[in-house]
Amino acid sequence: MTALDPARTAATPEAALAGDRDLAVRVRGVTKEFGTGDSVTRALRGVDLDVPYGELLMLVGPSGCGKTTLVSIIAGTLEPTAGEVAVLGFDLVAMSNGRKVRFRRDNVGFVYQAYNLLPALTAAENAAVPLLIAGWRRAAAVEAASDVLDTLGLGDKLASLPSELSGGQQQRVAIARALVHEPRLLVCDEPTSALDAENGRITMELIQRIAVQPDRAVIVVTHDSRVYAFADRIASMEDGRIESIAVGPRQMRTSSDSAASGSL
Ligand SMILES: Nc1ncnc2c1ncn2[C@@H]1O[C@H](COP(=O)(O)OP(=O)(O)O)[C@@H](O)[C@H]1O
Ligand SMILES: [Mg+2]
Repeated sequence: MTALDPARTAATPEAALAGDRDLAVRVRGVTKEFGTGDSVTRALRGVDLDVPYGELLMLVGPSGCGKTTLVSIIAGTLEPTAGEVAVLGFDLVAMSNGRKVRFRRDNVGFVYQAYNLLPALTAAENAAVPLLIAGWRRAAAVEAASDVLDTLGLGDKLASLPSELSGGQQQRVAIARALVHEPRLLVCDEPTSALDAENGRITMELIQRIAVQPDRAVIVVTHDSRVYAFADRIASMEDGRIESIAVGPRQMRTSSDSAASGSL
């Protein structure tokens, strides 16, 4: 798919290659402060994190510990106060804003905690937005988006407006929108919070099938212990820091029985 052609990304000198080639995400010493003086909030207090290609990393921790702040910085929608952030080998801190917009468009899918659907567009049109921005013809984009929505159980809601959908249905449209252009980095902020067990599982299976590939990586923020089974590693955050990283069930299964890991 031309939207994902890495050569387009590599051509720009300002986006210097940074970090380790085996890492989809490399975060070093990242801090984030909101506000100033007495009212300053230290949302991140020095985060180091590596996400290798091919991995699905889950990020867990209590409300307010900095999960959304961290994944927003990794996805390039928020600037760190200090520290280094390399994504797919590119130095996000050194990137100009215009360059970052294009980098995100071509390489990053983001499922926001608030779904951020466009109210005047149908479900299929909302899910097609990344393809339309990448220059696809409208009919082809809507057809591709409709296929993803169908997989997520929304085949009968393609023409519905967001206001006509339940919270869980809107959440699945937002997930379809983040996956439709097969981004190399997929970041999901609590993607299954409004879903029942069955739809949570279908969603995680789709995320795993599309996004967990040798040249891609996925970060999923979650409170939902039902989906931990899909994690390669689980990073626990507390008070602006990553306190520990545990090997997830999927990784344990992969190392003990590599044949089973490919069958999902
Ligand atoms: N735009 C903002 N302005 C001021 N404070 C913020 C902003 N965004 C987040 N915070 C604060 O930063 C801390 C971390 O928030 P957040 O990253 O949203 O946590 P989580 O996603 O883990 O619930 C919280 O104390 C929150 O109130
Ligand atoms: Mg959050």
